[in-house]
Amino acid sequence: MCGIVGVLGNHEASPILVEALRRLEYRGYDSAGIATINGGKLDRRRAVGKLVNLSDRLVHEPLPGKSGIGHTRWATHGEPNEKNAHPHRSGPVAVVHNGIIENFRELRCELAKKGHQPETDTDSETVSMLARLYLEEGKTPVEAARATLARLEGAFALAFLFDGEEDLIIAARKGSPLAIGHGDGEMFVGSDAIALAPMTDTITYLEEGDWAVITRKGAEIFDMENRRVNRDARKIRMDAARIDKAGYKHFMAKEIAEQPTVLADALSAYLDGDNIRFPSQGIDFTKIDRLTMVACGTAFYACLTAKYWFEKLARLPVEVDIASEFRYREPPVVPGTTAIFVSQSGETADTLAALRYCRDKADSIVSVVNVDTSSIARESDLALPIHAGVEVGVASTKAFTCQLNVLLLLAIEAASQRGEMAPADRKELLSQLRGLPGLFNAALDRDPAIERAALRISEARDVLFLGRGMMYPLALEGALKLKEISYIHAEAYASGELKHGPIALIDKTVPVIVMAPHDSLFDKTVSNMQEVMARGGKVCLVTDAAGAAEAGEGVAQVITLPAVDERLAPLLYALPAQLIAYHAAVAKGTDVDQPRNLAKSVTVE
Ligand code: F6R
Repeated sequence: MCGIVGVLGNHEASPILVEALRRLEYRGYDSAGIATINGGKLDRRRAVGKLVNLSDRLVHEPLPGKSGIGHTRWATHGEPNEKNAHPHRSGPVAVVHNGIIENFRELRCELAKKGHQPETDTDSETVSMLARLYLEEGKTPVEAARATLARLEGAFALAFLFDGEEDLIIAARKGSPLAIGHGDGEMFVGSDAIALAPMTDTITYLEEGDWAVITRKGAEIFDMENRRVNRDARKIRMDAARIDKAGYKHFMAKEIAEQPTVLADALSAYLDGDNIRFPSQGIDFTKIDRLTMVACGTAFYACLTAKYWFEKLARLPVEVDIASEFRYREPPVVPGTTAIFVSQSGETADTLAALRYCRDKADSIVSVVNVDTSSIARESDLALPIHAGVEVGVASTKAFTCQLNVLLLLAIEAASQRGEMAPADRKELLSQLRGLPGLFNAALDRDPAIERAALRISEARDVLFLGRGMMYPLALEGALKLKEISYIHAEAYASGELKHGPIALIDKTVPVIVMAPHDSLFDKTVSNMQEVMARGGKVCLVTDAAGAAEAGEGVAQVITLPAVDERLAPLLYALPAQLIAYHAAVAKGTDVDQPRNLAKSVTVE
């Protein structure tokens, strides 16, 4: 989603702003812009498309000044063109905004009556227009910003810059995260700490409803009642903010390839011998009657997988829902329910709203997050970090497997506490889990075969993924990955559902990717596969050596993975699903790390 940066510095602001925006590119965007103040005068440059277009423009039309704000825009209201790009400027005010101003139409009508017409199609411009109106009414910049904020409904992170004010940025947060960075006689603003990493490692996160008056001396922070408040400044681990492709062509390729190491680190953060260590007191699963799990996209598929684990291993009933549906359905959350929210970014608007819905209803709120300073983590009773490290590729890969890892550990712990898993079985499963990074390495060696299969898939218009049991959510994840980055239409079905409709789609032009380790359900999946092949369908089977031997004649392509305990298969089989999507996207020449229309952190609903 949109990225915000701001600087009150001692050096030229433009290169600092562009570099900070570059570090926010991973969030997804379709235009970018910056504004600075030089000699008391505001000016701005904006460009559609990639940041390089903005940088090119700045070469020909430099923007001097040591104070500035910048923005990468992911269009919500108004198409991605230069007119709609931020910063928005209304006379002496420039504003960058992330989120949605829900009452912008009413505000526009009010402004029109006072003779102020918008120049853009955006909701965001209303913010700069309102601030200008209040300045014209004689308010100071701080008063004008405060009056403006009081009128806004919806979700926002905002930064204001004013003509004639070289030492002032006003920042505000309601529903979208915003961080203030502290330098040596310099101050910064950013949508997240990653944007600010080269400039400072000392960060203050604004809390919900906060707004801040920032000068080079520091930040005065006020809450939504306009009371002066103290918010802690904390040191952010710089290694968590370090981002580079390490020689890979794409971040996604790097993030897929680093899964053995990342998983090993994530496991060691939770395992102490055969003890699973959770932060704080952990969870008492003997007092829980049911789990409600809520998330979006890939994180939702991690929850769907975990349902199999919790129900099978721990005999604990689980309801799983998509956050955007859950939040408005007003589902009953009965006593005895623990609610689990899974989110890589920890900022997904729908997931956060679902969490808040459960706040006073569930016995306890647990989150599984990658960003431990995120809103979802901070608003949970217990936040479990997945330890995936920064994930830059918009399509989630290592975060998915690390989410699965934490959810599996929770399910094992639940099973043990509830007397559903014998100590010897637990020991054995944990030992298998420790061996998983090694299996990931071995699976990565199958990349040439996976790439060959992906090249054929890249020529298709439609692709089906099939899986049974725990492989069903993984089939859904495989289809999502392929859609996201290769733009090939893909659907996933539980293998047993094929005959109930989707089999009508099968012909020789539709590749069918079957995820089927040689597990207790393998024979049933093979029958479904035969039904596909009998109708001319071209099957790509992802299995292990035993599965490959038993698959029979007629399978177009087989990708053979190392054998794995069937309870761990969703983790290992995520790798070929990711690589198939990756190679198909590369073959099609799409923008793998920043696919069209997608954002990394979805902070609007
Ligand atoms: C897909 C993907 C998205 C996210 C979803 C939730 O590759 O990354 O589907 O999983 O937007 O995001 P988080 O996990 O940040 O809540």
